Amino acid sequence: MFVSVCLSPGLTASKIGPYACGRGGCGACTVMVSKRDPTHFSVTACLVPICSLYGAAVTTVEGVGSIKTRLHPVQERIAKSHGTQCGFCTPGMVMSMYTLLRNYPQPSEEQLLEALGGNLCRCTGYRPILASGKTFCLVSRGLWGHPQSKNDKLFVKEEFQPLDPTQELIFPPELLRLAENPEKRTLTFHGERVTWISPGTFKDLLELKAKHPEAPLILGNTSLGAAMRSKGHFHPILLSPARISELNVVSKTNDGLTIGAGCSLAQVKDILAERVSELPEEKTQTYRALLKHLKSLASQQIRHMASLGGHIISRHSYSDLNPILAVGNATLNLTSEEGTRQIPLSEHFLAGLASGDLKPEEILESVYIPHSQKWEFVSAFRQAQCQQNALPDVNAGMRVLFKEGTDIIEDLGITYGGVGAATVSAHESCQQLLGRHWDELMLDEACRRLLDEVSLPGWAPGGRVEFKRTLVVSFFFKFYLQVLQELKKLIKPFPVPVSALAFLGSWQHKLPPSLLLLQTSVDSRQPLQDPVGRPVMHLSGLKHATGEAEFCDDIPVVDKELCMALVTSTRAHAKILSIDLSEALEIPGVVDVITAKDIPGTNGTEGDKLLAVDEVLCVGQIICAVVAETDVQAKCAIEKIKITYEELEPIIFTIEDAIKHNSFLCPEKKLEQGNIKEAFEKVDQIVEGEVHVGGQEHFYMETQRVLVIPKTEDKELNIYVSTQDPAHVQKTVSSTLNIPINRITCHVKRVGGGFGGKIGRPAVFGAIAAVGALKTGHPIRLVLDREDDMLITGGRHPLFGKYKVGFMNNGRIKALDIECFINGGCTLDDSELVTEFLILKLENAYKIRNLRFRGRACLTNLPSNTAFRGFGFPQGTLVTESCITAVAAKCGLPPEKIREKNMYRTVDKTIYKQAFNPESLIRCWNECLDTSSFHNRRMQVEEFNKKNYWKKRGIAVIPMKFSVGFASTSYHQAAALVHIYTDGSVLVTHGGNELGQGIHTKMLQVASRELKIPMSYLHICETSTATVPNTIATAASIGADINGRAVQNACQILLKRLEPIIKKNPEGTWEEWIEAAFEQRISLSATGYFRGYKAFMDWEKGEGDPFPYYVYGAACSEVEIDCLTGAYKKIRTDIVMDACCSLNPAIDIGQIEGAFIQGMGLYTTEELKYSPEGVLYSRGPDEYKIPTISDVPEEFNVSLLPSSQTPLTIYSSKGLGESGMFLGSSVFFAITDAVAAARKERDIAEDFTVKSPATPEWVRMACADRFTEMVWNYCLFS
Ligand SMILES: Cc1cc2nc3c(=O)[nH]c(=O)nc-3n(C[C@H](O)[C@H](O)[C@H](O)COP(=O)(O)OP(=O)(O)OC[C@H]3O[C@@H](n4cnc5c(N)ncnc54)[C@H](O)[C@@H]3O)c2cc1C
Ligand code: FES
Ligand code: FES
Repeated sequence: MFVSVCLSPGLTASKIGPYACGRGGCGACTVMVSKRDPTHFSVTACLVPICSLYGAAVTTVEGVGSIKTRLHPVQERIAKSHGTQCGFCTPGMVMSMYTLLRNYPQPSEEQLLEALGGNLCRCTGYRPILASGKTFCLVSRGLWGHPQSKNDKLFVKEEFQPLDPTQELIFPPELLRLAENPEKRTLTFHGERVTWISPGTFKDLLELKAKHPEAPLILGNTSLGAAMRSKGHFHPILLSPARISELNVVSKTNDGLTIGAGCSLAQVKDILAERVSELPEEKTQTYRALLKHLKSLASQQIRHMASLGGHIISRHSYSDLNPILAVGNATLNLTSEEGTRQIPLSEHFLAGLASGDLKPEEILESVYIPHSQKWEFVSAFRQAQCQQNALPDVNAGMRVLFKEGTDIIEDLGITYGGVGAATVSAHESCQQLLGRHWDELMLDEACRRLLDEVSLPGWAPGGRVEFKRTLVVSFFFKFYLQVLQELKKLIKPFPVPVSALAFLGSWQHKLPPSLLLLQTSVDSRQPLQDPVGRPVMHLSGLKHATGEAEFCDDIPVVDKELCMALVTSTRAHAKILSIDLSEALEIPGVVDVITAKDIPGTNGTEGDKLLAVDEVLCVGQIICAVVAETDVQAKCAIEKIKITYEELEPIIFTIEDAIKHNSFLCPEKKLEQGNIKEAFEKVDQIVEGEVHVGGQEHFYMETQRVLVIPKTEDKELNIYVSTQDPAHVQKTVSSTLNIPINRITCHVKRVGGGFGGKIGRPAVFGAIAAVGALKTGHPIRLVLDREDDMLITGGRHPLFGKYKVGFMNNGRIKALDIECFINGGCTLDDSELVTEFLILKLENAYKIRNLRFRGRACLTNLPSNTAFRGFGFPQGTLVTESCITAVAAKCGLPPEKIREKNMYRTVDKTIYKQAFNPESLIRCWNECLDTSSFHNRRMQVEEFNKKNYWKKRGIAVIPMKFSVGFASTSYHQAAALVHIYTDGSVLVTHGGNELGQGIHTKMLQVASRELKIPMSYLHICETSTATVPNTIATAASIGADINGRAVQNACQILLKRLEPIIKKNPEGTWEEWIEAAFEQRISLSATGYFRGYKAFMDWEKGEGDPFPYYVYGAACSEVEIDCLTGAYKKIRTDIVMDACCSLNPAIDIGQIEGAFIQGMGLYTTEELKYSPEGVLYSRGPDEYKIPTISDVPEEFNVSLLPSSQTPLTIYSSKGLGESGMFLGSSVFFAITDAVAAARKERDIAEDFTVKSPATPEWVRMACADRFTEMVWNYCLFS
């Protein structure tokens, strides 16, 4: 049993449930464990077995502070610094920061970054979270101290309550007594299936191990726990040595260091750091190498939990420490009842050979790591998808010892991780190189030998064989250069080749100083009470921070509630021959299995069934659902359901295959203007190219979830659901159950992130759960775990684009022909709409007279892709911008010149003939060039690139014209309901859903201005289909626009009714007016309605007026790439966005930053991987890398353009929910700019195929050099 399971009931911070990821990878479940003051550890509760906490105090976010009692400064500051949006990650963030402050009340910025490195946030872009943390730091740079900081602050630091460590809860005295007089008895805990034995003495531990040789030792449980959860490993007996002090002994000798196997990796880090500070550098080479990897290995939470022994014994192929320990000649001290012995941590041990392994009854007591010596050098290398909190693709430990006073190799050790089933030693190669000089000849031979010896099997973990091979030699080359530079210091004179002079230092991530230039400030004449335009904190901010904010799954268990788990297809395209439920139904606690036959109404649509009937169209399609008393029982039952299939043809996964099979979901969408045929004939040059953009997982922190409660009367149902579109859930449940819509009420309090993924899908889960509720008569709770959510729900459409662009030699584009295909998956869902939006938005900021845009959605056997922030724009426009880059390369001009030359300049019409004024676009562009000092920095980048062969910098500036809203009139409407109660308090309800974007906060700002009362009088309880019916999905960036106008309308109606009373008693108070109104029988409730913009698009004519307005912006990013590994760091980003008159600049900046970081993830790290059978591999934070806190650009400036007017919207504000996403592409184009610089220097073609995401793998392979060539030759001839 894990801590999360124990702590969940009644605690609303049950983000500690297993569902945010359940694997230690997201940090949402972080709690603090204290074993003895003053040592506190942050840990991920989802991996902590409850029995391991004997004698420990656990503090959850509820224990830190609450709104009801006292807020802790950490909670107050994260909320008031606008560090919360949906708030699902916030309790975890608070706990990581709180634990840090308990250990270090004034931490350094590096400590802060380290503490938060394991906490994912999908909404904020991290900057405001860091800003709140930095208020505690010793030296706080940036937000307040930055010399360029001109303008408004989003919060007032001086108003924060100070941190007073004396106010913290003391360590419980009874636990202190226990710690002082430790229990020596063996403690045994019996669970239903597992027995946990915790001996009190070393002797007892050895006895138990002899008695139960198969029982694993459980320390951090980060390896065992993960295997038990995801691979179904089962151990009836677990031995916990947590109380055995002998396993934590550290001893220092003259020749080395012995560290107890029970020490956590965090402790090991401290021990090594101490030793490094005490000893001369030559003795600490191995320790430094270990320290380097310990900084990036997993997150701080995992390092607090994971033990050195567990790490070594797990022998993961990706282990970051074993390769270094192996080359460092570490020795394992083993103990059993029989006595002690030592074995080397050698290739035999790493390969698990019996000759070099532990005996079943032995345990690892400690590890001896010898000092290094003079003329010995040790280095560690690692390349992962992200710099922090990501498993390595390949890592290595390398050590060389020279004959004293020479560069002749006396001993050499090289080991690699990630290249096979275990850590691999290149023993043979090393032997062959003994006696050789450390020179280029040796380097060449070494590379050839290494490629031969470390011959990655085709199935190497994670695939990417060519990339990994390249890293094998690139790492050695880096080692070669590093050692060369050391030898230069020792041997004089020592000739060093030019290449060695290249800068090779590793990157240290710096905390972004975050300069914010807020140029929207409210008019000084605006009444103080009026909150519009002010950076008001998110209404739920404090509740997010204290864990008191209730999400769907925080609703306490209701009477007779049952749990539901889904059974999904394991085949991509097959006929269902039979479904055998018998074994599943026999499992105790299982109540029923819901199949398509149980649906009383309609089972979805013909092409998109809720539950599969005879045929499945993708892996992950829902076939049936188990209903059981507990979640565990329901999940066990799933495994017992036997489904037989007959494979069907064709099976199509890729866009290319779909094109081949003519497999499409809907007709082609096309827009055309001018005459491209003629135009192509008259241009100086033509370029054709292809662009591939990968899909994207929404990765909302709160997975899909719903609770359906049937009522006893009239078939009424109450549905609590995490959705962006409750009316759609209501309608779908109605048609599925065949009951009128008026019997069904959907409630949405708040949603833990949506990003488009909770528009269509929640209706499916709601309807299936409702069928279960109807059939069993019980309330049904359905909560998807991360793996299922990722498997079932689909995401952003991958895109394949072909372009042909004709242009003059000066860069003027005369003709552009783009054809795009998106992968829609197996059902239509929103694919037609996405195609339309893609085509409508493809021109971005450019006026090109002769254009043809065509788009089609492919039908494939993958889960259906759906709406995602930006709705096709981020994918499609990457094609357009790639054309620009290609034209620039051909013209020998910088891309920004081509962008400028072809940008809209004057009032004009788009390709679909909608008139618009690009003035704000030009202003954003110029402002961005100016604030980023683009032209100067472009020169600096070029200078840097001239001096550095192995590192290159790139810079790019991207303009944006983003259309807001739906291309359909009926979507531009909204309603609100405002009640004034007799005490003067006001309840506002509207049709928008709170997804973290702060819509409720903005709505109350509107109501406050209209009713002229402070926000404290106003309240929003939830969004409910019973109060505001027939709502539109909260999407397309217009939620606040349309609902704001509806709220405004309702308030204006009410105020009009109150006017005579106010006139009569102008000096009266609000309460007096309301009382008088009630006495005079004036209705104090009003419905507001907004009939919005008339949007239409005639696809036949290619004309329309589909969008109410545009958001303009520009972003400039600079990056540095490591050509040898493909790693990159983001040096700086500047964004200028035209927000017009922001309703709330703090919320709007948050939306821009959050979307930008999400876009950066799309274009750089987020990669979906499928098996050849169409099974999604990347189903959790281990394999699917969304940006972490250390991915934020080191300098990140966001500014809002001084206001322009948009009369259509509420108070001339603009919807900024989606647009920032595309600006993330500035990082992508900066990376490709750097890659192009590397290729140019190496004399290879600059026009390479554009592929997003630009992962380190892509960057490395695109920076072709002698090492990639070696690998290709190796592949050709081996
Ligand atoms: C989210 C996450 C991210 C990670 N990222 C990285 C990463 O980037 N790089 C990396 O290298 N690793 C990474 N890891 C793996 C991590 O380093 C290991 O899981 C961890 O070190 C195992 O230690 P543990 O104490 O938790 O072992 P446990 O899970 O408790 O035990 C593991 C195994 O070791 C055995 N064992 C433990 N101690 C002894 C002993 N003293 N004597 C004999 N047998 C023993 C147990 O019997 C068991 O079989 C990550 C893990 C997670 C969960
Ligand atoms: S749920 Fe525990 S780390 Fe993600
Ligand atoms: S606020 Fe961090 S995940 Fe939503």
